[in-house]
Amino acid sequence: MTGWPTGLASPSWGGDYNPEQWPEHVWKQDVELMRRAGVNLVSVGIFAWARLEVADNRFDFGWLDQVLDLLHDGGIRVCLANATASPPPWLTGANPDMLPVRADGVRLSHGSRQEYCPTSPVYRDRAIALTEKIALRYGEHPALAAWHVNNEYGCHVSRCYCDRCADVFRDWLRARYDLDGLNRAWGTDFWSQHYSSWDQVLPPRVTPTLPNPGQVLDFARFCSDALLDLFCAERDVLKELTPDVPVTTNFMANWTFSALNYWHWAAEVDFVSNDHYTRADDPERHIELALSADLVRGLSRGEPWLLMEQSTSAVNWQPRNFAKLAGEMRRNSYSHLARGADGTLFFQWRQSRAGAERFHSAMLPHAGEDTKVFREVTQVGEEYGRLAELVGSTVDAQVALVYDFESAWAAEQPAHPVAFDYYATVLGLYKALWRLGVTVDVVPPSADLTGYRLVVVPALYQVTDDEARWLEDHVRAGGHALVTWFSGIADENSRVRPGGYPGAFRDLLGVRVEEFFPLADGDTVRLTGGLSASYWSELLHANGCGVVSSYVDGPLDGVPAVTRNEFGEGVAWYLATTLDADSAVTVLSDVLAGAGVTPTVSAPPGVEVVRRRGERISWLVAINHTGADVVLPVEGVELISGVDTAGGLPVPAGGVAVVREV
Ligand code: GLA
Repeated sequence: MTGWPTGLASPSWGGDYNPEQWPEHVWKQDVELMRRAGVNLVSVGIFAWARLEVADNRFDFGWLDQVLDLLHDGGIRVCLANATASPPPWLTGANPDMLPVRADGVRLSHGSRQEYCPTSPVYRDRAIALTEKIALRYGEHPALAAWHVNNEYGCHVSRCYCDRCADVFRDWLRARYDLDGLNRAWGTDFWSQHYSSWDQVLPPRVTPTLPNPGQVLDFARFCSDALLDLFCAERDVLKELTPDVPVTTNFMANWTFSALNYWHWAAEVDFVSNDHYTRADDPERHIELALSADLVRGLSRGEPWLLMEQSTSAVNWQPRNFAKLAGEMRRNSYSHLARGADGTLFFQWRQSRAGAERFHSAMLPHAGEDTKVFREVTQVGEEYGRLAELVGSTVDAQVALVYDFESAWAAEQPAHPVAFDYYATVLGLYKALWRLGVTVDVVPPSADLTGYRLVVVPALYQVTDDEARWLEDHVRAGGHALVTWFSGIADENSRVRPGGYPGAFRDLLGVRVEEFFPLADGDTVRLTGGLSASYWSELLHANGCGVVSSYVDGPLDGVPAVTRNEFGEGVAWYLATTLDADSAVTVLSDVLAGAGVTPTVSAPPGVEVVRRRGERISWLVAINHTGADVVLPVEGVELISGVDTAGGLPVPAGGVAVVREV
């Protein structure tokens, strides 16, 4: 973190504010209601390009001047957009070549948003020109707290397959390979794909059947880099003109999206911000939220981050858009806060009357102020005012979980033993840690693991030789690791590591897998020790490791499924199957106990407790996801109520608490 929105004393509370959708007389009322709701930060102008540059090089900033002045007068800080997220129709109309092209060759039309190709010089020039104008006009506006660049890069168009992108992709490849190297890396002798000149190399457009996996992986890397290059160009303008104003762009490090390598992106922003929407039909959606929040804190290298968007209630883009239950948005907000967010904002302030998102919830619903949503918004806004002391603190964790966006790109390709979902696989394992009350730091491969008692490595499908050595060295020196199936399978070019799975980690784990045995949907297998598993199994040979549990039925009766290997001074566990929820808790308890990891606080199932730590004091944030009142063994002052816990902290059913520990 090299900057933070300025002028905020307590955790940020607010949302996207789109005044251009409303007549002028509403703006004043907005500011009054924002004050009532405890709003202190809003993101303005994200989709306002067409209202700011009304025609080619003709600008209208008057309305935005007024809005920013009103917000400033109301004491509300502004995360101001450079407004490049959705180019206006006059621009795409005059330059159809800037519209993105799908893998099947269809050029997308105007009429929605994000209608640009990442390598379009026209888009880039115009975006930079607009950014300059905005920076020069508002760089010294007293309401300005930070810059919000673009919006959710890649959300709708993460990959463009046009001829220009093909050219830039070739340049990107040339910087990494000579033609022989490319042929070797992609294994082009398969299916006669050998390239004899660079102009034959294309993006993986629609082909008769499966494309080349190395080509698909490199194209994914290229597309993430191409969008990052665009972000950096916009950011650089802002940095040059307003060096002291922090810059961010909102990530989507969550279950909905995996197209960008946010480890690379996070290094380029002044502070990390993220958008998170719960999956309404998932009864355990609060655990997915926790994983996303931990991942974002990881991207922020443990430092505070900002939740740029969540919803107050229903979204409008899931198959069935369930409303949030009373108290749910409050719990969601506190879970983010517990896991290192120094503010939680929403899409959006006032629910739209028109446009594609009019049935998406907002802080101020269509039904107005006399609503469950607005009351809860006001309540939490007021509570955040009492939590100023948490700002800037970090989060305690004893376990590191390795997360790799590129493994998702490599492992989620077709023609694998199973249709694979990387995030869901990570989440499956994470749930056991969550249930055991253990807080996890999410780290990239090759991270510094000093201080962690355990490193968890779910489905790290592709690894470089250096990354494989990194984990080995860590365990050899006394670390504890837990590795799961579909790890170490391939090198960084998606080429399988021969000699048996899990290729790169065979020695570390003391196992050799000769064949995968995926299970049918709905099938479960029983294991010794009363465990059960589903989805995946493998024909594994213990090669020096201890066997913790073996299959007692299914196609692999008697074959080891959970192993433990003493390696150097440390211990490496291997999970060769997907354990069911209770079984995962059983095995993980042993793994954690062996590594000396203890829960943050002893809490009943379904109660989430995370510790934030400042220089001299620490706080516990407790979120009760159950329908029963609980009392936690915690000493200190509860900050929302101001009450001394006197040895027992009551957290009501569905409620939250924040305690300054003594
Ligand atoms: C994303 C976008 C917002 C809005 C929300 C709706 O997060 O950034 O503009 O579309 O989704 O959930």
